[in-house]
Amino acid sequence: VIGDVDAVGDGVTGVQVGDRVGALTVTGGYTEVLYWRADRLIPVPTTVDPAAASTIILNYIVAYQSMHRNAHVKQGDKVLIVGASGGIGTALMQLGKLAGLKMYGLASESKHDLLRQMDVTPIDYRMQDFVEVLRDLEPGGLDAVFDGMSGDYIQRGLDVLGRGGTLVSFGEPPSLRALFGMLGTMITTNLLPNGRAFKFYGTSFYFLGRRRPFNEDWAELFRLLDAGAIAPVIDSKYPILEAAQANARLESGRVIGNVVLVTRELM
Ligand SMILES: NC(=O)c1ccc[n+]([C@@H]2O[C@H](COP(=O)([O-])OP(=O)(O)OC[C@H]3O[C@@H](n4cnc5c(N)ncnc54)[C@H](OP(=O)(O)O)[C@@H]3O)[C@@H](O)[C@H]2O)c1
Repeated sequence: VIGDVDAVGDGVTGVQVGDRVGALTVTGGYTEVLYWRADRLIPVPTTVDPAAASTIILNYIVAYQSMHRNAHVKQGDKVLIVGASGGIGTALMQLGKLAGLKMYGLASESKHDLLRQMDVTPIDYRMQDFVEVLRDLEPGGLDAVFDGMSGDYIQRGLDVLGRGGTLVSFGEPPSLRALFGMLGTMITTNLLPNGRAFKFYGTSFYFLGRRRPFNEDWAELFRLLDAGAIAPVIDSKYPILEAAQANARLESGRVIGNVVLVTRELM
């Protein structure tokens, strides 16, 4: 959520009425008015478009921290992005380009042009077995895989990693059983001397008190956005009262990047 501060409580310092701020709400973000803790407000420059800024709060922080705080990518690394055409996937592609990575992305065929524009080699996950394709193209294996799908993408993602490679999964396990399966794979992958690592990333760490790395990374991402080094892909914007249509578009499978709900004040 991005908005302007309307009022502050007694004794609140560090934020004033009129400041532009963001909040990572998890739920309750479809709103015109939000009551939120002052110590969890994220400073947002007024020089950037609010719709673009809203993508930084969730999608870009997931992409940035998966890439830089978990996989610790370096220039020239070979990586796979699962769900490359989505909100987080498009953020990963832009940040990966900035970091000088050699990228492969899974996406539906109709979205491959966007991947090519971002210097990402597209693989149509509906028509091709990406494990076979990547074993042909990169016989030495990849340095990192970024996955938001979970399920069998985890094992198949591990299968395309080379020695020293890391799989970062930020997907929500669909069931408790799937969660235990993931934890089992994580323990065995990380304990076996196979030179590969499996890490789980979640913004839930923010709510467990590890807020400093988030605040540092949001500041860096807003700096990159303000400097024009990243340009979030906005598929469409809807007035907040048309949230149902926005959700229908999301469910259509035609979206590339982000769908943003906008209030009258920020239209
Ligand atoms: N851990 C966290 O803190 C956190 C935070 C935010 C989101 N997430 C999770 O991250 C995932 C991605 O989020 P998002 O906002 O980027 O989603 P999104 O914008 O809806 O994009 C999802 C992408 O997944 C692709 N896809 C759909 N079915 C697929 C399949 N069977 N195999 C491979 N790709 C498939 C689609 O590609 P095509 O359209 O090209 O087919 C689409 O581009 C979600 O599972 C979400 O729950 C986690």
